Order: sequence, then structure tokens, then C-alpha cells
Amino acid sequence: MSIPILSSEEIKKMRSAGRMAAKVLDFITPYVQEGVSTEKLDLLCHTFILDHGCIPAPLNYHGFPKSICTSINNVICHGIPFEYDILANGDIINIDITVIKDGYHGDTSRMFLVGEVDPAAKLLVDRTYKAMMKGVEAVKPGANFNDIGKAIEKYISKFEYGIVQDYTGHGIGKVFHAEPPVLHYDRGYPAARIEEGMAFTVEPMINGSPNYKTELDKNDGWTVRTTDGALSAQFEHTILVTPSGHEILTLSLQ
Ligand code: MF3
Ligand code: CO
Ligand code: CO
Repeated sequence: MSIPILSSEEIKKMRSAGRMAAKVLDFITPYVQEGVSTEKLDLLCHTFILDHGCIPAPLNYHGFPKSICTSINNVICHGIPFEYDILANGDIINIDITVIKDGYHGDTSRMFLVGEVDPAAKLLVDRTYKAMMKGVEAVKPGANFNDIGKAIEKYISKFEYGIVQDYTGHGIGKVFHAEPPVLHYDRGYPAARIEEGMAFTVEPMINGSPNYKTELDKNDGWTVRTTDGALSAQFEHTILVTPSGHEILTLSLQ
């Protein structure tokens, strides 16, 4: 169960895949408006990805039916685009893009605010972004994978929020979800050592209430929600470990 160390050829391909995933989010941004359906957002991204010679990794992944994930308000992750899910004023939505380019995966997600969003919801989104960046900043050769979760928990524990534990970041490369799991909380003892040439995601899901419960939609088998209706936010970057620290492979190009 060793974590792969990427060759310089593979690193080039991961850079290119990461850049492409970020480009899809940049592309879809102006369309994320009140009145648009998540199905339309899916179709736009699907076409954009194919037009760039890439593959949308979620499509048919363990039976997932669409090309992107769209998670609105109390949906934590893995929301399925749907023609009758129409964005409304005040919604917050996560769009999660994973592309396969030249055999390598780039995985990234951002939150979008629709119209006038409640200040508490906006705060949750801003703090979730900050939490992800705290986790990313802990990445350097010789650090421990648990340092990522520790940094996120240290920051998030200041607020009345909950860190989702059931879903984690992951190693990424030729495989979409590879070893190791990247926890977004402090598991209390060390995990694997972070080494130069590893690639993985940091993607904390933060809920607006501390005592949330998660619930998997029994009908579609994918959509994960907070049971109490608490809002949930998430950001995700794909990270490469460099000799001096890390490189974010999925930075916005705008
Ligand atoms: N992109 C998600 C992640 O960050 C995984 C989506 S899997 C799917 O790991 F099947 F739901 F698309
Ligand atoms: Co991911
Ligand atoms: Co993702």
C-alpha cells in the first residue's frame, strides 16, 4: 500500500490535467446564475471537457450518471445534476470537476453564491475556503498527512461548525481515488509521511452546524445531505508535493 511517487513526465501530465479541471470551473462560472438548471451546467461542462479532448471522470464512475457533481445548500457532496434543480436566489452551490487528460486526473471544486446570499452562509463559504488553504499550507516533504487535518481542525474549531468525517481527500494520478485517504480532521496520531512527488487532493466539507448527521439519498444512492438541513460548503484542490513545499495544480487561470 505504498503511495506512488510521480516521475517528471507524470508530473507534467498532472499539471496539465489540473490546469484543465480549473479551466472548466473558470468556464462555467458565468453560467452559475439564478434560473439555470444543474443539468444545463452539466451539459455545458460535459461538452467543454470533450471539446478539449478530455474525459469527465465522474461519468459512469461506479455508476455515477453525470459528468460533474452539483451540491446545493444542505447537500454535502456528490449531488447529481438534474433538469428540475433550478438555482434560486440565495443558494450556495459546490461544483466539483474531475477531468482525465492524457490518462491523468485533475480534481477541483469551488463554491458559488447565487444572487443575494445570507451573510451566515457567505461566512461558511469563506471559512471553508480558508480551511482548505490551511490544509494545503501544511503540505511539504517530511510533514505528516495528519498535519493537514490538524491544520484544518485547528482553524474550524473556532466556529460552531462540523467537519465532515465520512468523506476524505485522496491520492490522485492515473487513478481517480487512490491511497492515501486525506482526512480533514485530526485523527490524533500520525499517518503516512508526505514525500516529494506525491499528488493528492485536499477537499474539506464543512457544515454550518456542529451536530449534523449525514444521510445518503436512498433513491439515487449518491447525494449526501445534512439531516438537519444545515448548509454545507466545500472547496477542493489537487496538490503536488515539491522539493520546497507544494504546488497547487488546480489554480484558477483567471
Ligand atoms: N470529485 C469527487 C471527489 O472530489 C468525486 C466524485 S465521484 C462521483 O473526489 F462519482 F460522484 F462523481
Ligand atoms: Co476529490
Ligand atoms: Co472532486
